[in-house]
Amino acid sequence: MPILNWKGKHLADPRPVSLTQDSILYPMGKGYPRSKPEGRVILGENLSIMAALLPEYEGRIDLIYADPPFFTNRKFPARIGRGEDSRKPSKWKLVAGYQDSWPDLDSYLQFLYERLSLMHRLLSPNGTLYLHLDWHADAYARLILDEIFGEKGVFINEIIWTYHGPSPIKSAFNRKHDTILSYAKSGDYTFNANAVREPYSQNTITTFNSSKKAGFGKVPDLERGKVPEDWWYFPVVARLHNERTGYPTQKPEALLERIVLASSNQGDLVADFFCGSGTTSLVAAKHGRRFITTDAEVRAVHTARNRLAETKAVFSIERDASLKGLFSPDGKKIKVHVASGSVRLETTLDVDFWEVDPDWDGKLFRSAAQAQRHVRSGELPMEIKIGSPRRVCIRLVTVQGKQIQLDIQAVAHTADRF
Ligand SMILES: C[S@@+](CC[C@H](N)C(=O)[O-])C[C@H]1O[C@@H](n2cnc3c(N)ncnc32)[C@H](O)[C@@H]1O
Repeated sequence: MPILNWKGKHLADPRPVSLTQDSILYPMGKGYPRSKPEGRVILGENLSIMAALLPEYEGRIDLIYADPPFFTNRKFPARIGRGEDSRKPSKWKLVAGYQDSWPDLDSYLQFLYERLSLMHRLLSPNGTLYLHLDWHADAYARLILDEIFGEKGVFINEIIWTYHGPSPIKSAFNRKHDTILSYAKSGDYTFNANAVREPYSQNTITTFNSSKKAGFGKVPDLERGKVPEDWWYFPVVARLHNERTGYPTQKPEALLERIVLASSNQGDLVADFFCGSGTTSLVAAKHGRRFITTDAEVRAVHTARNRLAETKAVFSIERDASLKGLFSPDGKKIKVHVASGSVRLETTLDVDFWEVDPDWDGKLFRSAAQAQRHVRSGELPMEIKIGSPRRVCIRLVTVQGKQIQLDIQAVAHTADRF
């Protein structure tokens, strides 16, 4: 088998980090305060987090989708504005998103190699790994995955995801597809063909209805539909789409839905160690799968939390314990009014999301109720209904990404400074 080499190629056992729980979120209070999380959203560097997950999860993850940086050598800011003109980038309100910058190709390949090797170890014997890249590095990745999965491994598909969009290129055809490679550890991998069937085209239906000889006598089940080809068209997530979060390079839910439905079953464990806006976990949660997702960016974790809060899945937010806590006290511009059935927020801050633990134990934040800014209108509910609050703790995240925690006793002091 041909093997790809690069300067500095090596595999060492990465140092695991210890993980600490930052909060547990019970969407709309479901299961508060006792239900066990079905999902984990973890902040930190994914190599050392995967190493930390190995003792519990080696060979136990049923589906892994990986959408790493593509070796574009660009920075991808996140958009936090609403209603600006998409054609005028100079007018967009931006904050830091994530970086895809590398000293050279060798270091990028080493980055992929180490992480894909750990994903391979975490993958279950019947599981599937999907790796999403584009023309910058997909050819190298194919060889790397061939090596990692070895002779027993199965290369399942090279999926081409096509889309439209503006392009400045005038000296070549517009590059409007990504490549998704899928691999399994053996031929006995999960593939639910019936879960992803789609209607035959009108042309095919007309042909088969008009002639018995079409298809050399093989008549497809036109009612049941067909298993999709390995080239998929889904529109990219654009400004006017409701699912758009503003987090850069967000992938469409429809794309992940096809992957999750085809390659996992209800109750399976789905992981995405390059979480971004959280599309994989969102789709997994919507379809009754458990999930683990990691990202090194606080904004990614926040975006994923916002989206997951709209599902029914109870999930934990965790972090590499060596990182600073996500929320810090700062009540200068916030007033909180606690009544018997509700908590009301008063602030001049531009709040994106807020949540309440009505019975805080002073250690682990259990989010029993949440409110977030509406994608389109920008409106945010300033009052949250909550049954008999005791020791209330509030957490809020501003549009700019500031994360504030207020123990209600502390609020009494800061209220005057409002
Ligand atoms: C292409 S984006 C993922 C987009 C995602 N699929 C979505 O639908 O929104 C890649 C993500 O990987 C994260 N990332 C890159 N390197 C990482 C690392 N070493 N550890 C953890 N996260 C990393 C970036 O912060 C970024 O959010």
